[in-house]
Amino acid sequence: MVDLHTHILPGMDDGAGSIGEAVRMSEVFWQQSVDTVVCTPHFNPSETSLQDYVDKRADAMKKMGQSRVALVPASETYLHEYLFHYPDLSQLCIRQTDYLLIELPFTGRWEEAVYGMVERLIYYYHVIPVIAHIERYPAAKKNRRAVARFIKLGCLIQVNAHSILKWSCWPRIKRYLKKGYIHVIASDSHNLDSRPPLLAQAYDKINRKLGEQYSDRLKWNAKAVVQGKLLQETTAGLLR
Ligand SMILES: [Fe+2]
Repeated sequence: MVDLHTHILPGMDDGAGSIGEAVRMSEVFWQQSVDTVVCTPHFNPSETSLQDYVDKRADAMKKMGQSRVALVPASETYLHEYLFHYPDLSQLCIRQTDYLLIELPFTGRWEEAVYGMVERLIYYYHVIPVIAHIERYPAAKKNRRAVARFIKLGCLIQVNAHSILKWSCWPRIKRYLKKGYIHVIASDSHNLDSRPPLLAQAYDKINRKLGEQYSDRLKWNAKAVVQGKLLQETTAGLLR
């Protein structure tokens, strides 16, 4: 399996705090049959320069050395006007693909400027934005049409494994899955305590509650993304 969103790289952000913790996380991934871990440390263009971030990430990847799981460099890029100062964002994308994991503002409502920035990412940089943990944004909770709007623009939508396992989030996630609003799931794991890797458990739940055609489609999509392929289908219309 592929985990598209993790904070396994040590010393980059609020994820793994040490190499030891990162290595232990990679063992948990392996036990869960995750063989490809996409490393998505936070990048906020208003706080760090792109070059500093890329250098720091390369260092952290080097420190990880040989790992049983394949580690793929990428980012979780905060959508900010400063991003557009850079002529090229390919180093932030999931390695050798056009997919860029982006984090949106946690505001009560997304202004038109937010949609505008997403559109500019697509048309200026030719990236395919993957919107991180859509279920966590207050703006998406308040306005269902926001999610459909991002999909219409050409974005993919990601949901966190942890939220799938939470009873309070499940009804909305189930609705999204049935509508085809969710393209990929990922762990967004930060450590082994408060935010551990739970991808296998989340797939199990989808399997039990909705049937394996849903979990299979989501797994296939995650693999396609890391290989840079275009997705042809979502979970819309899959019958139990
Ligand atoms: Fe994250």
